Amino acid sequence: MKDLILFEKPNVKFTDVAGLDEVKERIKDDIVYPFIYPEEYKYFGLNPSDGILLYGPPGCGKTLLAAAAAAECDAAFINLKISDILDKYEGESQKNIKRVFELARSHERSVILLDEIDEWFRLEVLPELITQMRALETERKPRIRVLGETNKPWQINTSLLIWFNTRIFVPHPDFETRLRILEMKLLGKPFGKSISLASLAQMTEGYASVDIARICVEATCVLLEETIGEKKPNRQIGMSDFKRVIAKRKPALPLWYAKTFDKFEDGGEDNRFADLIRARTIYRAPAKC
Ligand SMILES: Nc1ncnc2c1ncn2[C@@H]1O[C@H](COP(=O)(O)OP(=O)(O)O)[C@@H](O)[C@H]1O
Ligand SMILES: [Mg+2]
Repeated sequence: MKDLILFEKPNVKFTDVAGLDEVKERIKDDIVYPFIYPEEYKYFGLNPSDGILLYGPPGCGKTLLAAAAAAECDAAFINLKISDILDKYEGESQKNIKRVFELARSHERSVILLDEIDEWFRLEVLPELITQMRALETERKPRIRVLGETNKPWQINTSLLIWFNTRIFVPHPDFETRLRILEMKLLGKPFGKSISLASLAQMTEGYASVDIARICVEATCVLLEETIGEKKPNRQIGMSDFKRVIAKRKPALPLWYAKTFDKFEDGGEDNRFADLIRARTIYRAPAKC
């Protein structure tokens, strides 16, 4: 089982996550402190066994935050996709779920992250998963926290969703966050005076955090290839290198937000994901023909 899953004490802190200050505060209140102060949480009638859903556009820090949360409370981090659990032999997928929770229990504290939770609807795993989550409710001192992650919240199985009552929206990077990601990713790299991080942060509006990180790597690679391949004299990374790599990439976020307009109406039942609905007001609904 240990070979099957990514299991580690992650080496990432909240300070490695750019921006997202409000989200970090919520994660501290909902994940980190309940582990550290379980008695106090119980006393105030808060239920630290609730599943927590992290949802939002892809590549904007959900997994990074989950790993950082686990690290902040010194918990083991079990990061699973459903493909890690499914087994072609009957009954084995269900046993794999049991094994995951046993493995989690063998540690003082564990965070189990169910990645792409919209895919966890299969009958081979769903009943056992719910049984395990129900069992957590009766534990006096919670040792396991279950997190779910998705960029397709509209596709989550409804009988699973009710186990994830704490829902945290992880938004796209705003200007300040983009600036911080650029600073982090370009730290120590040879870039010239022509580079304006503020301009780059403006040019990367609508890009996911992961794409901004990749843009920094690609701009650096332009130079690397020149230096190695053509034996040109060293020069520094300039704005034109960034313009070239940015032009090759489409911003992913307008498309993602447009999709949410297809899937959710404002108001009504879709207040399940109220923070997303609030965040998307800066993106317009696509025109209907
Ligand atoms: N807020 C952030 N600060 C710094 N890097 C980030 C941030 N968000 C995403 N990244 C970068 O993008 C990568 C992918 O982010 P991840 O957390 O896996 O996205 P997802 O929301 O899809 O889970 C990270 O490994 C990291 O390099
Ligand atoms: Mg992820």
